[in-house]
Amino acid sequence: MTVLQVCPLLPSLEEALRTNYKIVDTPSNEVVAAITSSRFGVTNEQMDAMPSLRAIVHFGVGYETTDVAHARSRGIAVSNTPDVLTDCVADLAVGGLIDVLRRLSAADRFVRQGDWQNGQFPLAVKVTGKRVGILGLGRIGQAIAHRLTAFDCTLSYHSRHQVPDTPYTYATSPEALAESVDVLVVATSGGPATAGLVSADVLTALGPTGYLVNIARGSVVDEPALVTALTSGAIAGAALDVFANEPNVPTPLLGMDTVVLLPHIASATVETRQAMGELAFRNLHQFMTDGRLVTPVP
Ligand code: 8YV
Repeated sequence: MTVLQVCPLLPSLEEALRTNYKIVDTPSNEVVAAITSSRFGVTNEQMDAMPSLRAIVHFGVGYETTDVAHARSRGIAVSNTPDVLTDCVADLAVGGLIDVLRRLSAADRFVRQGDWQNGQFPLAVKVTGKRVGILGLGRIGQAIAHRLTAFDCTLSYHSRHQVPDTPYTYATSPEALAESVDVLVVATSGGPATAGLVSADVLTALGPTGYLVNIARGSVVDEPALVTALTSGAIAGAALDVFANEPNVPTPLLGMDTVVLLPHIASATVETRQAMGELAFRNLHQFMTDGRLVTPVP
């Protein structure tokens, strides 16, 4: 029952792993399952170095760092941790949206720096009633839309396929979506299929009073184009929890008060990380017991 642990994981999960399995940190013939995070995945090279490998378990909903087609071709099953993090990721998206429009982080800096002594903080932008476009209306996108309904927002979306039975307006392209909203929220999965979906043209369509919120993956946004758009005022601001090359954030963004910068924390609450750890462990345990995963990737 040898398991490869690819990267550091939640301490309680690591403990459960150590208690139940032989945990190793290098690929070998013995390894039958690998456990990793969405950030690291398992490389094709690692898979090829483990001929007995039959399962890859991800801590996280994203699995774009693992080549699932390659895994399947080797008879390796793959799981992730959907659903348990949806609420926290959606909460953070709404938090980022409110922060960047109402300028909460900038106002906090204003108070701490003593600037309040010299005058009032500049007026911000109203949240209630805004037109919000969701790029990617999956589980997380729908949870974001649901929350924003309570803010009387007008909601529209673009997804690869039109989603049946939703009350939200469908836009036929990311550009058409951006053009019709005040705030564009990115909630797609990552990987090659969505790389660069928020292009320079999409940002231009969002326009000088438009805001971008990204809780998905940095790869979905053309990051140099985003920096240019923010620098030139082609868009009004952004709340970003994810970046193209984490933990590196483009230097020009660090000095911008119109940008909220977060260190990829959307799922990072005690409750949600615990639930993710438990679901990851249940996947591994079930697989070791009867060869089935609880939440295989689609
Ligand atoms: C975590 C995530 O930061 O679930 C995902 O896809 O991006 C986040 O929940 C990640 O899993 C930790 O590596």
